[in-house]
Parts: sequence; structure tokens; C-alpha cells
Amino acid sequence: MSPIHMHHTDAPEGTAIEDVTLIIFGASGDLTARKLIPALFHLWKQGFLSDRAAIVGVARREKTDESFRKEMQEAIGIGETDDDQTVWDGFSKLLFYREADVADADQFRHLKASVESIEESRQLTGRRIVYMATAPDLFMPGVEALAQADMIPPREHADRLRVVFEKPFGHDLDSARELTDSLSRLLEERQIFRIDHYLGKETVQNILLFRFGNAIFEPLFNRTHVDHVQITVAESQGMERGRGAYYDNSGALRDVLQNHVLQLLCLVAMEPPALFNGENIRDEKLKILQALRPGIDGDENLDHWAIRGQYASGDVDGKSAVAYTDEDRVPADSSRETYVAMYVEIDNWRWEGVPFYLRTGKRLKERVTEIAIQFNRPPLNLFTTVECDGDLCEMVDSQPNTLIFRIQPRESISLAISTKRPGMQYQIHPVKMDFEYEEAFTIELPEAYERLLLDVMRGDSTLFTRSDELEAAWQFVTPVLDAWESSDGKPALYPAGSWGPQEADELLATSNRHWRRPDPHSRKS
Ligand code: BG6
Repeated sequence: MSPIHMHHTDAPEGTAIEDVTLIIFGASGDLTARKLIPALFHLWKQGFLSDRAAIVGVARREKTDESFRKEMQEAIGIGETDDDQTVWDGFSKLLFYREADVADADQFRHLKASVESIEESRQLTGRRIVYMATAPDLFMPGVEALAQADMIPPREHADRLRVVFEKPFGHDLDSARELTDSLSRLLEERQIFRIDHYLGKETVQNILLFRFGNAIFEPLFNRTHVDHVQITVAESQGMERGRGAYYDNSGALRDVLQNHVLQLLCLVAMEPPALFNGENIRDEKLKILQALRPGIDGDENLDHWAIRGQYASGDVDGKSAVAYTDEDRVPADSSRETYVAMYVEIDNWRWEGVPFYLRTGKRLKERVTEIAIQFNRPPLNLFTTVECDGDLCEMVDSQPNTLIFRIQPRESISLAISTKRPGMQYQIHPVKMDFEYEEAFTIELPEAYERLLLDVMRGDSTLFTRSDELEAAWQFVTPVLDAWESSDGKPALYPAGSWGPQEADELLATSNRHWRRPDPHSRKS
């Protein structure tokens, strides 16, 4: 019998977290209202978080516990007459608000006293989680203020404080290294939880389960059988909710490719870990990042393997959309990329020579995230047929088998296969074998933040980015950022509502391949 490998965590699954104080810095922000408090509310409703726990929102704005609770209730959308009102009343007793400027050490001494008194009244022992939901330039000042207020426990009690960081964690390789170094002077790596919310998605976690929990696909996941892999994180949204100011400092490469896309790449390409635990999984992911090689056959000309685009005006979902440079809080002459496509290879035994095509962008035709693994075609084309529609006839070959992990929306895993179309001839016809979450399970998929917050409370760092992974990801993208930022070139324009610039099609066309055009509304795509 094979051994059972368990995760090592503080609290076993299924038990409520009893003794925790969650302190959220940046509690006036969007993330707290839209993601964190709703996730905590659900966790509490499902019994993962006990009534004793405390959640303390901290920000500079003046608010009372009452007004904070009210705001959060509105953000979740519970009206005063809703059935959920009594449930909410139960949860809202966990919520507190304290004013403090993250950059002000004096105010932090008051904060400490205040948190201690909340803890005392709830018989909490000061096991704390600090969530940095602030702008990134406040990460270090916030941790330094914690240190000065004596809120960082001595190293032997490191488990009593965990600190969660939202992205962006660094702006490029140097700034990420600097932040990691400064933090490591005050915190142990095991106290640091860097969020990549993609890893909290149920369908992303399922990639590992699918690959290593089934025996029939894994033998095909290599250079002998795979023609190429496409990873797409496409969004139809633009710069809603005043995001232009942040985005124009960031761009598609930093905002999504450096983190979410590379994480998906790691999960789909990594070797099976020796044990299913945080360190082993992250060791394997790191090896992929270290083996990433840009470009085709060592062609280092950036324009041949990395394409940047920017949306012009167009139509998205039947509504007209303005160009990126006409968006609120975006400079009219901005050359920031809102789209990026890349060709990369992984220099290891399994994947040598297999193209991985990565793309992400805003204002694309659909909101869809997927990984498509296209297998080799059969060695002989025995079944080429001619299909006619009226006068229009075309040759139909067997379609290559493609395995698709649809991360969102309409979460599914499907395999495209060729079959015989019923009739008197050998006519080939592509069909799909698929598993749709919605059909297979009646339970709702948990929100990414629910899973991640619970994991921080349990002390399980599997789904968080380790510092060496982060560094390797920055190491890969920084030369591209630098080259783009120092060049006079501009991103290629694409109409809002399209699939990106034509230049990106050429990345694949040179090898007779093409991007998928997934349509999440159709069962066929
Ligand atoms: C965030 C980016 O990390 O991910 C956003 O900052 C992006 O720009 C978002 O829209 C996408 O996440 P999701 O879960 O909607 O695919």
C-alpha cells in the first residue's frame, strides 16, 4: 500500500478556527469590501471561523465599528429586511474598525493597545494575521510600524503572526528583491503569505488533481505527444472603477502575465511533487520558472517572441468602448500595453522543443481563462474528407486532440476527439468529451479568497508564492519590461472587442498554428 501524505497545517480540516485576530490594513479600500469581508462572512457562515474570532479593519479614515459594519453590510448587499439580516448581525459582531496611519509608528502603539483589549474581551490569545490590502508602497512602512509597536513576535513564536501581501509584490526584479530582503529582516519566510488569487480558484487547484490523480493523461504530457500549449487569460473589461491610474503604471505583463499566467504555466508543466505539500509543490513550480526560455530556437529578437498591444476603440458585447488612451486617468499618449502574447519554451527533458503560447489582455472579445494542450496529429491522415455546404466545399482533416482546462467562466475540462459522422461514408467529425462543474456538482464553487484566507488561518502556504518563485518570475519578465520601456516602439493597436493585435497571430502562423478563439457561451468551443 502506498503511504498517505498529509498536509501539515495548524488546524485540521473541518474544524472552526477559534483563536485568530485578523487585522486588515487598507480597510477603506475596494478589496476589503468586495473580496475580503464577503469571503470571511462565507467562511463564518459555513462554520470555518468561530464567533470568538475578531476582524479589525484599519485605515486612516474616521469610522466607528458601527459605521464600518454598516458599510460592509451594504457592500455584501444585505438589505435590512433580508432573511440574511439576522445571520449578518451574528457575523458583524466580529467586525471592528480602528483608525491608524500605516506609516505612523505612534498611532500603531495605540492600535496595539486597542487590538489587545478587543482580544481580551473575546478571550483571544493574540494569534494574529495582518492583511496588507494597501498600496504596495505601504508594505514596508506597515511592517516596520508593526515592529516598532512591538507587534512582531520573537522568531521562536513566529507562528503567532502571519502577514499577507496583496500584489503587486515588486515592480521588477530589483524592487521585488529589495522588498524580499527588507521583509526578511523583520519576518521569517514562513510568516509571509504572498497572494496570487488565481491559485485560490477551484479550477486552478484541479489542474494538479487532474494531472496527478489520474493515470491516463500524465504519460502524454510531454514533448513526444504534445504539439503545443496555449494559455489564455482574456478579459472583456477595460479600466472600470478608476483602475486606469494603477494600470498605466503596470500593464498586462506585470498585472497578469508575471503572476497568474506564469502560475498556470507552472501547474500545467511541473513534475509530480514527491509529497503533496507546500514546499514540494513550490520546489517543482520553481524548476519550471528557472527552465523558461524565451523565443523560438534561441532567437533572441524580442519582437519575434513577445508582442505587446493596446486597445483602440471598438465594440465589446454590443456596447461601444473607448480606446485605452481615452480612459479615465490614463495619459493620452500612453504606450502602456494592455495585451501581451509570448512564445516560450521550457528547457527540460519533458518539454524540450514544445511551444508554450501565452496571452492576456483587456478589452478582448470574451472573458475567458483556459489552458489548451494540443496533442500531435495522427501520423497518417486516413480520413480526409470533403464537406460541402451548397457550392462551398472544403477538405476536412482530423482535428488534433486538444485537452482544455477552462478555468472560467463555465468551468470545465474537455477533450476534443474525432469521430465518424453517422452515414454511408467515412466522414470525420470533431466532438467533445467533457466534464462541466455545473453539471457534475451541485455545490457552488468557493471564491478564491475564501480558500486563501482559510489557508492562511490554517498556516498552509501551498497556494502562496514563495520568494524564490517570485524572483524567478520577475527574472523572466524584467528584461522584456526593460526593453519595452527603453524602446521608442509602441504597442500594436487592436480594436476593443477583438482577439488582440494581428502581430500576435503571426507568432503562431509562422509554424502553421493559430490561436484558439474560445467562446465560453457555446458548448462547442
Ligand atoms: C488581477 C488584475 O490580479 O486579476 C486585474 O490586477 C484582473 O487587472 C484580475 O482583472 C483578473 O482576475 P479574475 O479572477 O477576474 O480572472
